[in-house]
Amino acid sequence: MAGYLVSDERKVTTRRFIEMKQKGEKISMLTSYDFTTAGIVDRAGIDGILIGDSASNVMVGNATTLPMTVDQMIYHARSVVNAVKRALVVCDMPFGSYQTGIHDGVYNAIRIMKESGCDAVKIEGGVEILDTVKAILDAGIPVMAHLGLTPQSINKFGGYAVRAKEDKEAQKLMSDAIALADAGCFGVTLEKVPAALAEKVTASINVPTIGIGAGNHCDGQVLVVADMLGMTQGFSPRFLRRYANLNEVMTDAIGQYVADVKSGDFPNDKESY
Ligand code: KIV
Repeated sequence: MAGYLVSDERKVTTRRFIEMKQKGEKISMLTSYDFTTAGIVDRAGIDGILIGDSASNVMVGNATTLPMTVDQMIYHARSVVNAVKRALVVCDMPFGSYQTGIHDGVYNAIRIMKESGCDAVKIEGGVEILDTVKAILDAGIPVMAHLGLTPQSINKFGGYAVRAKEDKEAQKLMSDAIALADAGCFGVTLEKVPAALAEKVTASINVPTIGIGAGNHCDGQVLVVADMLGMTQGFSPRFLRRYANLNEVMTDAIGQYVADVKSGDFPNDKESY
């Protein structure tokens, strides 16, 4: 229920995420980028919805997440917020919106919160951005961290391979996660890292880890909704379980519509005024 100092008790909060970890209750998250999909995802009982900058790939067809702008993220996030009644809504801070310094990071996080109405932001990076993360938290904005394969750094990594397989990178990831959790982040996304490392990180911090390609010991899981519904094609990483083949369902339905229009079967009398 919206209104002055009235909170909706059914709404999932960042505090609830932490309580779920404490109780050993797994956290389910999916991405969404538009009103219609977000409404379906929310009504199906998801705990958290991420407006990922993967919108760049999924919605726009770009090869990377780098082109996404703050205005575009706000547009997608507003569309999702308009649909969601229960899930925690987290919006990615896109490439270039915080790497330039603390002021820009806080300014853009405030814009995203104010103009989209989302509940929290997610930000890629470790101790390099700790001061910016602290400043965003100081502004009263909940932050989810994102470690491991951070797609905004794809040009530095040179590919989408599993991260932190070597000791040095694994140790840095662990200390990054501890520093970000200690700073007050309410969760840490772990993308494409060895399951054993994700398990250790999960045991070492008191806020939930949300894994994507990080094994079964994370406190929760996130997938890109278009991938798990089988809408996207030609993307089959090991971590992706497809729960539907919407590509086939949609292609069949659209093919049938085309045939009905061509044959004159659609619209019939009942479908006419
Ligand atoms: O942008 C995104 O969808 C993400 C998830 C893959 C975690 O960051």
